[in-house]
Amino acid sequence: MGAISDTTISDTMRAVVAEGAGGPDVLKIVERPVPRPGEGEILVRVAAAGVNRPDVAQRQGSYPPPPGAPDILGLEIAGVIVAAGPHATRYPLGARVMALVPGGGYADYAIAHETNALPVPANLSMEEASAVPETYFTVWTNVFQRGGLQPGETLLIHGGSSGIGTTAIQLAKAFGARVIVTAGTAEKCDACRALGADFAINYRETDFVAAVKEATGSRGANVILDMVGGDYIPRNYEAAARDGRIVQIAFLKSSRAEVDFRLLMVKRLIHTGSTLRPRSVAEKAEIARALEENVLPLLAQGGVRPVMDSTFPLEEVAQAHARMDAGDHIGKIVLTL
Ligand SMILES: NC(=O)c1ccc[n+]([C@@H]2O[C@H](COP(=O)([O-])OP(=O)(O)OC[C@H]3O[C@@H](n4cnc5c(N)ncnc54)[C@H](OP(=O)(O)O)[C@@H]3O)[C@@H](O)[C@H]2O)c1
Repeated sequence: MGAISDTTISDTMRAVVAEGAGGPDVLKIVERPVPRPGEGEILVRVAAAGVNRPDVAQRQGSYPPPPGAPDILGLEIAGVIVAAGPHATRYPLGARVMALVPGGGYADYAIAHETNALPVPANLSMEEASAVPETYFTVWTNVFQRGGLQPGETLLIHGGSSGIGTTAIQLAKAFGARVIVTAGTAEKCDACRALGADFAINYRETDFVAAVKEATGSRGANVILDMVGGDYIPRNYEAAARDGRIVQIAFLKSSRAEVDFRLLMVKRLIHTGSTLRPRSVAEKAEIARALEENVLPLLAQGGVRPVMDSTFPLEEVAQAHARMDAGDHIGKIVLTL
């Protein structure tokens, strides 16, 4: 291992794993050895860890960790660097970082690759910082890199009040786009409007295709960020503008659909998608550098900020997951260590 100046690192730590697959009660706090950073890696004493829907899927047994990733839950952390592996020189020991991790976030200590970490702006608490990486990496790479959202274009975000949605609204507005969201309650729609969404559609009451056409003078949305799938897929084709880009980041309803592909051709649509977790350290590092250049200054100035739903101590990890399962949250749920 490289230099470890912090002699207060213990040998063991608390960590959350799923013992079996199922509801929040399968989550158990166990004792594990503190991991050791390898080449280019940092050891972070975790102050807070974000809870994400993929963690729920992992708990339910439908989203196993990729090869090499720890079985400990948690995809994003904020904390202080207490040790560095060989050639990890980007940050000094003691630096406050927020990092995307391939797993292992719900623990007192976690390993991150230094290139997948970002410095925590002074105006963000550790709780807020831990709510940044997963949604900011996801939104940047899907909305801006794959979707190619341009100033003046219209972005339709399904699940506008989600962790992902609340980030997408703010970033799209900050970069000069118009934003339309769908959400499942009036309260969620209000929250999206308060964040800057130009139109919020309660999809339980209003057909989103008709509402998007009305809001865009029949032109449709230039980019659609979809986590729902199922019958949203043909409806997205209808709601999209000519040369529109539809970016699939999940299939909360279904990954299967009956689709008439004529609109894909007639409107010259691009239907794409991506997953973040299995991507290589180098690919995540590229996204991190783009965020550092384009988004970190906005975070530091308070122009965008993670929307915090609730914070739970690690001991209450089951309650944190139960809150996400219930689906009433707006923005991010975070664990504190
Ligand atoms: N591809 C990637 O790289 C990537 C990375 C991170 C996350 N994700 C995915 O992005 C999605 C959002 O993640 P998150 O952490 O932001 O989750 P979240 O906060 O729990 O948000 C899920 C949202 O989806 C809406 N929704 C619509 N239809 C739904 C359905 N049938 N079941 C459940 N929710 C439904 C919910 O609100 P209402 O229905 O009430 O409006 C809620 O706002 C997840 O599916 C996650 O797996 C993908």
